[in-house]
Amino acid sequence: MSDVPRIVIAIDGPAASGKSSTSQWVAERLGFLHVDSGSLYRALTAALLRQGAPPERWTSSVMVAQGSRITLRAEATSFSALIDGAPAEEEIRGGIVTASVSLVARVAEVRAWVNATVREAAQTHDVVVDGRDMGTAVFPEATLKIFLIADPWERARRRLVQRLERSPTEEEIAAETDLLVQRDAKDATQTVQAKDAVVLDTTYLTQPQQVERIVALARAVSHRPPVT
Ligand code: C5P
Repeated sequence: MSDVPRIVIAIDGPAASGKSSTSQWVAERLGFLHVDSGSLYRALTAALLRQGAPPERWTSSVMVAQGSRITLRAEATSFSALIDGAPAEEEIRGGIVTASVSLVARVAEVRAWVNATVREAAQTHDVVVDGRDMGTAVFPEATLKIFLIADPWERARRRLVQRLERSPTEEEIAAETDLLVQRDAKDATQTVQAKDAVVLDTTYLTQPQQVERIVALARAVSHRPPVT
């Protein structure tokens, strides 16, 4: 472990608030690595689903045991969550995993495992971490904390544009808004805004504008003293 204190930029917020893509972009601009804490909850859920037992039979010890199959691998600009040593990006972003992930994320032992895994990543690299509670439970001493919010309709619209690669209809946005609001409710207890977080409402911001603001804030607070 290095004795230079690592820089941690914590970006939290509700589902589809643009945390992951914004964090990835900010990390690339700063030369840091992006850690997506949600990808660990998702990878664990996918590993459990691969076992075949229905979610109602998943006990906390069954869940935690699957954690040994998940690793975070440092790549050029981000950490990637692997299941049994292999990437599973498409699988972990799919609807089946999304429908069960909040159930897994509610378990205290699972949260402790994710938090320890993310902290370990931040011991070796300057990081931009995103999630629900990075600025509170995981990195209360983070160099910079951002809490991203956006109108649910706009979050739903953005998510659909990303998924469908076309303009969604009003009906599609309404149905997606419903799903998002339901997931917000399921995740409400673990979505915690730090008192010292900078709140950024991205409803009327483009992604380059969001990234620019966070990069500017990060540069202002992350100067390291010169090495003597
Ligand atoms: O960010 P993403 O939507 O990929 O996260 C997937 C799920 O993981 C969330 O719906 C939430 O249940 C859980 N999560 C969490 N705490 C975090 C990150 C994600 O509870 N720090």
